[in-house]
Amino acid sequence: MIEKSLIDLYDLELNDIEKLIDLALKIKKNPEKYMDYCHGKIMATLFYEPSTRTQMSFKTAMLRLGGQVIGFDDPKNSSVAKGENLKDTIKIFANYADIIVIRHPFEGTAFAASQFIDTPIINAGDGGHMHPTQTLTDVVTLKSEKGRLDNLKIGLCGDMLNGRTVHSLIKTMSRFENNTFFVISAKELALPEYVEDFMKERNVKFTYSDAIEDCIGDLDVLYMTRIQKERFDSEEEYQKQKGLFILTKDKLKQAKDDMIIMHPLPKIDEIEIDIDDDERAKYFEQAKNGMYARMALITKMLKTDQYRPVNYKNSEIKCNNPKCITNKETYLENLVVTNGKDKYCAYCDSKIK
Ligand code: NCD
Repeated sequence: MIEKSLIDLYDLELNDIEKLIDLALKIKKNPEKYMDYCHGKIMATLFYEPSTRTQMSFKTAMLRLGGQVIGFDDPKNSSVAKGENLKDTIKIFANYADIIVIRHPFEGTAFAASQFIDTPIINAGDGGHMHPTQTLTDVVTLKSEKGRLDNLKIGLCGDMLNGRTVHSLIKTMSRFENNTFFVISAKELALPEYVEDFMKERNVKFTYSDAIEDCIGDLDVLYMTRIQKERFDSEEEYQKQKGLFILTKDKLKQAKDDMIIMHPLPKIDEIEIDIDDDERAKYFEQAKNGMYARMALITKMLKTDQYRPVNYKNSEIKCNNPKCITNKETYLENLVVTNGKDKYCAYCDSKIK
């Protein structure tokens, strides 16, 4: 099986990430030059979960590159509604398309799908796990707004447990020199164990805080996120967490003049609306960059063979994360990755206990 999918941005060499950022910014300056780059190619977008920016920016990216798009955004309108499993759906789309973009509520789905086909797959978000193309968007924005990806003090605020964008962002930004993370969240929504283990193993500097005011004055970047309602077991639990962290104009007074505010969007109530007009608010520009980042990625993936490291092996032990795709599609093999000390599920990264 050829592994040429993008499941986690960590699969790419740092050098390749930097090349993608440069390409995205080049495309942004002169998009017409790229209008035929994917002529004759077809992209399938399989969205098993709601999406505005990711889905539309992927589709627009492919259309602007001269390619075409097929797919679904509501699995109820496909054979999934009749009970078709992931493996069959993905094998069918692999016959029709040159590249597949998939978003799914279960963790590890893009990786699972990549096990069955040779067609490259892009992970457009797998449950509360990872969101590599949002991170690509974020690093393009950071590079163009701050001029660097190292020596940054990055505040991450909101739902750290279920927010896939922050998991991907931490993994990528940890690879650049001397970045420090200020994690602002309620205890119940702290980072998952595998993200903390990842940072600890690499001696990445991070501290927890329970108020934006505690650290905003030190930050170069404040990355706000929404509380991920759809990942909670009950409405009551969501209500307990909702509205705890709100960026107000008053709090923003303590921030540096060149601190930028980012957000993957959609934002709900975590940023006061008036802040949209503050010149430090970069989230709409960030969303625009998402299209150029995806144009760069599609071009690259269709032109060059990119190989994921195969660093996982079979295991006797089943992953016990109920949100892992292996617990939904039970025919999937048990696969694990090890760091020499602990074992993690190759699909969802949960520690195998
Ligand atoms: C994010 C996602 O889907 O994880 N949105 C996006 O892709 N821009 C963030 C979110 O839904 O909160």
